[in-house]
Amino acid sequence: MRTKIIYLANPNNPTGTIFSKSEFDTFYQHVPSHVLIILDEAYFEYAKDNPVYPDSMSYRYDNVITLRTFSKSYGLAGVRIGYGFAHEDLIASLMKIKLPFEPSTLANAAGIGAIDDEAFLTRTLEHNRRGLQRVVTELGVRGFKTVPSEANFVMLPLESADDAQRLTQALVERGVIIRSLANFGLPSCVRVSIGTEDENEFFLKTLSEIF
Ligand SMILES: Cc1ncc(COP(=O)(O)O)c(C=O)c1O
Repeated sequence: MRTKIIYLANPNNPTGTIFSKSEFDTFYQHVPSHVLIILDEAYFEYAKDNPVYPDSMSYRYDNVITLRTFSKSYGLAGVRIGYGFAHEDLIASLMKIKLPFEPSTLANAAGIGAIDDEAFLTRTLEHNRRGLQRVVTELGVRGFKTVPSEANFVMLPLESADDAQRLTQALVERGVIIRSLANFGLPSCVRVSIGTEDENEFFLKTLSEIF
């Protein structure tokens, strides 16, 4: 086998789905120890309170590196800061080839400050939970299927790629940008991000106007 790296996102983008610890373990048993598994937990905070969701900080394998970001729940995408953790031997190997440039001092300060600001995170997660619930419920009322999401977006499987294209186009013409997922290999699906309350309501109102 020539595979060198396996990249897994948990929660996954664009489906918003998660895998459990036992699902990961079943998969892991088939991965040779020389293969690096990159575990992308960009949406970790949104899923962390789900008992089925495994926090990879508390299960460590020597060939797994976890990556997290402040771009999502902490709202710091423009700051470009994140963190990772892995076995010290793996980190030591990475250090040998890593470019010498670090995130800026200000970016580091923003990341550390964000971790300390528990109230902000709690507020953000609560806001997202409510918004997601509202959008999913209202989509259901309008006859749309949704994939159960553990992130700050939700995926809608539509009947066809044409439907996905038409819906994306009709919405963008009315000022709402959703993501068509053709580039993800899911041409009949779209992804809707949860926004502010006003944005969510505008999306739902616009959807009603289209149909
Ligand atoms: C799964 C996943 N990982 C990583 C990122 C990007 O994170 P960052 O802003 O830290 O580069 C995204 C952003 O869309 C994402 O969906």
